[in-house]
Amino acid sequence: MAAERLQKLIARAGIASRRGAERLIAEGRVMLDGVVVRRRGVVADPRRQEIRVDGTRLRARRKPRRYLILNKPTGVLTTRSDPGRRPIVMDLVPPSARSLAPVGRLDGASSGLLLLTNDGDLAYRVTHPRFRVPKIYLATVRGLPGEAVLDRACRGIRVDGEGLRLDHAEVIARFPHRAEGRRRSRLRIRLLGGRNREIRRVLSVLGHPVLELHRTAIGNLEDTGLRPGRWRNLRPAEISGLRRAVGLEAARSPRTRPPARSRPAIGSRRTAASGSAAAPAPHSPFVVAMDGPAGSGKSSVARMVARRCGLGYFNTGASVRAVALAAMRQGADLDDPAVVRPFAFRVLLDPEGRVFLDGVDVSVAVRAPDVSRGASRVAVHAELREVLVERWRQAAGAGGVMEGRDIGTVVFPEAPVKVFLDARPEVRAARRSSDEGGRSVAAVASELERRDRTDSAREVAPLRQATDAHRLDTSDLTLEETVDRVVAIVDQARAGKPEPGPTH
Ligand code: DC
Repeated sequence: MAAERLQKLIARAGIASRRGAERLIAEGRVMLDGVVVRRRGVVADPRRQEIRVDGTRLRARRKPRRYLILNKPTGVLTTRSDPGRRPIVMDLVPPSARSLAPVGRLDGASSGLLLLTNDGDLAYRVTHPRFRVPKIYLATVRGLPGEAVLDRACRGIRVDGEGLRLDHAEVIARFPHRAEGRRRSRLRIRLLGGRNREIRRVLSVLGHPVLELHRTAIGNLEDTGLRPGRWRNLRPAEISGLRRAVGLEAARSPRTRPPARSRPAIGSRRTAASGSAAAPAPHSPFVVAMDGPAGSGKSSVARMVARRCGLGYFNTGASVRAVALAAMRQGADLDDPAVVRPFAFRVLLDPEGRVFLDGVDVSVAVRAPDVSRGASRVAVHAELREVLVERWRQAAGAGGVMEGRDIGTVVFPEAPVKVFLDARPEVRAARRSSDEGGRSVAAVASELERRDRTDSAREVAPLRQATDAHRLDTSDLTLEETVDRVVAIVDQARAGKPEPGPTH
């Protein structure tokens, strides 16, 4: 697809008619490379540029997708080219597959399954820990590691400042030679993450260096019968199984989840994910839901947690405020749901925590006290919330930290991490008053009290703590302390460890 007018590309993608696409552009709902386009006639190339409609990416027509697995022998490098002309995996696949990319690393000294594909979305998800695609390895290690060592490997250790851990490890064979230096064990290991040389580094630090490492499975793909150095195309059922597991294809029924473990043999108290109701379903976005009343510290905490965890940050309160701002600018009746609802289509959130109204960044303008009051009034309309909730879900389609009032209860009730921040009323009022340039604390306090009452008493999506949320009272915590606690909860959920349970 060459460069063409935006409305044509949008229409071709089946999102709207040409005329409808022009309207979407005029309403500021179309972004090109992160910038809202409102002019007619802008030309774009979908292969090189990112076009989003209401936050959802428009896909360029692709080459047919191809997937193959290779049983990589040791001594062959996982790379597409090597200036040193050493053997590489591309030497082992047919010329027609040389444009494919290997998915993830399998270092030169290791052998086993390697997926190669031109399906970039799948490749990203199979390697990203958030999608929890299990990879199974057989490792031969020096010595006879005991329970305590394997427990430590699964609880996690720091190596060169990096937190590393195995998701599961069990001994499947021991070779107790009389000479200590020749004792060996064979382990079966499951990884959900896959940092650089993670298994080798963890076991080496624990005194059991890896002598041989072979990967036997990636999600639902197994190497049954594939001799070293040989490859095969994936079967259609394998492709759709893998795409389903990472959320790229719908499950057969909306309630169907992939089985928690693809291999029956693995599962023990050492399996970090076992029994964790909080571990996210592999296909659900990794959302950190952060709710709480005004002045509890949500925005600062959410922004910093997002940065530390490498996630996007979405401020849903800002979009309620932007609706109020738009309505107020037009002198519209804030109490009339039918009048207020259409403004929601003009508001966009980005993963940097900013809010755009008709393509213009209004993140600062929406903080004005009169907009706060207006936001509280429009937030009660069910008709408006219906549109906003849908847009919030779209915005966080790939996961992120989302703050608001009803994220853990309504927007993402299945979020793997839910935090409810609170603070004593006088602390919240003091914080808001300094945010708002030192307005009198007493005035802010009474306004906060009124807003809390409206937010908590409204019929739709009232401010309420989800039963499975972690409650944090931030009154006597510094910002850094609060962030540290939330990051610890996120890390725990990402690692799939059983959580200590909600705190109240
Ligand atoms: O968090 P904030 O103060 O920026 O929120 C502005 C208003 O929007 C506030 O009255 C609560 C409301 N709101 C809501 O109803 N639902 C959300 N998810 C976020 C905010």
